[in-house]
Amino acid sequence: MNLKKDFPCLNQEIDGMPVVYLDSACMSLKPQCVIDKMVEYYTQYSGCGGRSAHKFSSRTTEEVAKARENISAFIGAKNPNQVIFTKNTTESINLVAKSFKFKPEDIVLTTDKEHNSNLIPWILMSKNKIAGYKKIESKTDGTFDIEKFKELMENEKNIKLVALNHVSNIDGYKNPVDDIIQIAHDNNAVVLLDGAQSIPHTKVDVEKSDIDFLAFSGHKMCGPTGTGVLYGKEELLNELNPFIVGGDTVETVDDDEITFLEIPEKFEAGLQDYAGIIGLGEAANYLSNIGMEKIEKYLNDLNLHLDEKIKQLENIKIIGPNDPKKRSGITNIVVEDINSHEIAVYLDEVKNIMVRDGAHCMHSWYNKTKTKASLRASLYLYNDKTDIDAYFDGLKEYIDLIKI
Ligand code: ALA
Repeated sequence: MNLKKDFPCLNQEIDGMPVVYLDSACMSLKPQCVIDKMVEYYTQYSGCGGRSAHKFSSRTTEEVAKARENISAFIGAKNPNQVIFTKNTTESINLVAKSFKFKPEDIVLTTDKEHNSNLIPWILMSKNKIAGYKKIESKTDGTFDIEKFKELMENEKNIKLVALNHVSNIDGYKNPVDDIIQIAHDNNAVVLLDGAQSIPHTKVDVEKSDIDFLAFSGHKMCGPTGTGVLYGKEELLNELNPFIVGGDTVETVDDDEITFLEIPEKFEAGLQDYAGIIGLGEAANYLSNIGMEKIEKYLNDLNLHLDEKIKQLENIKIIGPNDPKKRSGITNIVVEDINSHEIAVYLDEVKNIMVRDGAHCMHSWYNKTKTKASLRASLYLYNDKTDIDAYFDGLKEYIDLIKI
């Protein structure tokens, strides 16, 4: 794939050097077509969707509807109305956490490898005595323990919701979600999948995998910041309590009675990020036109190249599966006795190589495993072997410098 040309951020030099961007698990860059689509909204028909009778408003309504259809097709949903636009994965998970009709004895089961966005809502819910939560521990190699999960689901009848990541943001490991969903359904539980890291990298088909709820963000899939999606099965979305309420969520209101609109409007309160939503629809088209299977294979091959390089270095621990093809384009390392933040700053300041360091919004896992911090390179479709070679050379250079 030769896609750097589509991404303006990569077609520039900073301080006379090219940019090497390896932080896509945090934030993907945006292709020109997504930027153009948003500029088109702002420059040609910058109206308010679904309200006024004029041309700008009706064009906005039309473009938002098209974006919803694009996203719906991208994830294989039956009906575009099952796509609720939110700000991000975090808001989508919070929507379910706050709106699901829990009873105090109910339990949400999550894992020991969740991003804060799929952990804090459950901790607070439990502190507020709305329902309880439990975590299933991963195997020692960080993979999902399906036998333990099956046993737990069969023995603990109060688990009503299983909320887990599809792909982990620390090691790229893909949970066996089809099996997990099957077991959860056999035991009358609903599954909320955090797809923030899977949607940009792999084909997700909500119908085929029988997914109940799927949360994901636009900013990791070449889309605009501040855009996200909650997909849900129709009957489950209808069952949820309203979340953020206000304009555009109701059919009518009186002081003593509110009649909410159907999905998706019921959950899309107030004026929406029209440019963002329209840009997100374009991002889904961009990825679909390339092909998700092709993207996944490309990233796996590229991660193999990175893995071969990294394994040449001494005193480095790779977090997660040893096989780079099982790490969805992520190589997250701990360099013994070297502060990962200092490496990240050196790479950025001296080489324009952008990676992420720290606890990657997963403090609970880093605390539990007594891992102070790590250095994560995360690949996407615009990266190539030259980026990896530059990263490897920069990393080696810093390690050699520190040793002196
Ligand atoms: N922003 C989070 C990360 O970078 C998800 O891993």
